[in-house]
Amino acid sequence: MNATMRVLSGIQPSGQLHLGNYFSMMRQMIRYQQTEDLFCFVASYHALTTVFEREKLEEGIRNALLDFLALGMDPDKSTFWVQSDVPEVTELTWLLSTSITVPQLELAHSYKDKVAQGISPSGGLFFYPILMAADILAFGGERVPVGKDQKQHLEFTRDIAGRFNNRYGEVFKVPEPEIGEEVAVVPGVDGRKMSKSYGNAIYFFAPEKKLRKTVMSIVTDSTGVDEAKDPDQSVLYQIFCLFLDEKGRGELADRFRTPGTGYGHFKQELFEKIMDTFSESRKRREELEADPGYLQEVMSKGAEKARAVASDYLDRARQAVGLRYL
Ligand code: ADP
Ligand code: TRP
Repeated sequence: MNATMRVLSGIQPSGQLHLGNYFSMMRQMIRYQQTEDLFCFVASYHALTTVFEREKLEEGIRNALLDFLALGMDPDKSTFWVQSDVPEVTELTWLLSTSITVPQLELAHSYKDKVAQGISPSGGLFFYPILMAADILAFGGERVPVGKDQKQHLEFTRDIAGRFNNRYGEVFKVPEPEIGEEVAVVPGVDGRKMSKSYGNAIYFFAPEKKLRKTVMSIVTDSTGVDEAKDPDQSVLYQIFCLFLDEKGRGELADRFRTPGTGYGHFKQELFEKIMDTFSESRKRREELEADPGYLQEVMSKGAEKARAVASDYLDRARQAVGLRYL
């Protein structure tokens, strides 16, 4: 990757952020600040497709901002904003909507999954992938780190950009997805994909007691303390590995295979590891929470920076389609 790559991604503020979000996307994004031109936003418009209570949405947006900043997002090194503070993306959504067909949108796994979960099949939910394309194309995003479940949306974005460019001339960069294969799917405490909607998520900023309780609830089989445990079959091992390097993983696997340590013990160690990993961020989050003026300032500046880029792309798109007629 060259030094000026524009890396862009967003996260929905539709609930608290968990380890699945952290390892699939947030951690990479924060790292990219050091080497790349990072664009990161809180997808507030997208959250409107599933969150219908004002307080819940407001709290979700605030929490996502605090989480990112506490984890080390640096607004001076990156462009960090709330999606709906840059309304240019909604106009661009409309301009892009004629470059994708309804049958194509009907294939969206995410749409079908959400409708199957009982979420209202609203126009907004159906249009979701086009808004996502606008999010990326409005900022010239070149690399988009996301979890595996977003891969199809990225394909839609590439299709839309390609079709638009073909029809009207080269306006948009065609982005590349970046799926962190190593942590493609983070399992939850019950072994299914970690998700806020399954109630199986580990929230790294949860109060200590609650966090401990969640870690202790990770499913294990009935293998006793004095028996060898199979790391390859263990959700606990898989989650623990997220926090370890190659060597640490090997050592943990050996300890699993050696009788003498019970699952409860490994869980306690994992809990301590999580607390340790996030201890500085937890402290920082408390400080940030106590300073709403700072948060406000960060968001205004972020929106201003992001808007400058989006309005430029929107302008070119308007011109390309024929809306600059005088
Ligand atoms: P949830 O399933 O909890 O509703 P989201 O759909 O809001 O999570 O996911 C936000 C981002 O985090 C997406 O990029 C998604 O791919 C990623 N993500 C969420 N859960 C996981 C997981 N368990 N493993 C890997 N990536 C995940
Ligand atoms: N749909 C993404 C998710 O649920 C969030 C998102 C919205 C996004 N717009 C984006 C991710 C643009 C990457 C790029 O995780």
